[in-house]
Amino acid sequence: MSRIINGQDVVSPELAERVNSAVKKLHYQPNSLARALKVRESLSIGLVIPDIENPFFPALVRGVEDAARQHGYSVILCNTDGRQQLEEKYIRLLAGKQTDGILFTGGSGNKILNMLTALMIPIVILDRRLPLAKLNTVTADNRLGAFLAAEHLLKTDRRRIAFIGGPPKLPTSEDRLTGYQDALMNYGVNFRKSLVFSGDFTFAGGGQAARALVESGTAFDAVFATNDVMAIGVIDYLHKTGRAVPDDVAVVGYDDILPAVWYKPSLTTIRQPVYAMGQAAVQMLIENLNSPQDAAKMQVFEPQLVIRESSSRGEGH
Ligand code: RIB
Repeated sequence: MSRIINGQDVVSPELAERVNSAVKKLHYQPNSLARALKVRESLSIGLVIPDIENPFFPALVRGVEDAARQHGYSVILCNTDGRQQLEEKYIRLLAGKQTDGILFTGGSGNKILNMLTALMIPIVILDRRLPLAKLNTVTADNRLGAFLAAEHLLKTDRRRIAFIGGPPKLPTSEDRLTGYQDALMNYGVNFRKSLVFSGDFTFAGGGQAARALVESGTAFDAVFATNDVMAIGVIDYLHKTGRAVPDDVAVVGYDDILPAVWYKPSLTTIRQPVYAMGQAAVQMLIENLNSPQDAAKMQVFEPQLVIRESSSRGEGH
């Protein structure tokens, strides 16, 4: 009977009709474990992310989960804190659990790249660009987003723009630094290494970077923090040290998380279409499941500048 339900057997239309009406009458539900054992499907997708506490990720997870559910899949969520050892552990675990595929938002160490490329199940790199690897990828244009952020500050006459990046060596951090440099160059403003600081995409990290900036003694009139939680950490520190935002220092973040609107001053930021990115990644994974022989695909979403109070001078006000 299950071969008929699953459409694997060719039978007469009468027999198929009889089986299908019996299925309806008995409310027959194919047992997913039994199906999994038989056709090696678990109807689950692994989603590996760095940090669910960063409000960027709940929106991403929501996009993934909604799309996965529509296709009959459930999602197994793994947080890694961006630690390579945990990334490796979860990839092994998910592959061993017969998940049908993995969506991976993580680092680009050689070991991880080798593990991912050797996997026998579909994989989509989500919200990251992993260099040199030919893997399905759904991401946003980080270079363009950073360009838009820095350009906005330059258009509003800020010239000493500090840059607070993400973890070093992460392609996302590198792309955002390049976009910032592109904008400076376009406006004939010299790039100063003394205005570049590393962060870790957390609130505390934003505060620490702002402190390092202030203590360095380098003059600045704006900060581009490359995600919103760091930007809020920056503003918090600046306020504590008696600097007004945006009057003394303009601040721009990145992501457009929900608290960007709730926070005072509301945050100028770069919106990433994060929910749509999550959905697109599931779609790509399903396409890969159905056509495993297809070449790896890449989908790049466009970020968008959203101007709010934290950079209120000039443009848009
Ligand atoms: O890993 C965290 C960051 O990367 C997020 O805040 C978002 O900017 C993402 O692209």
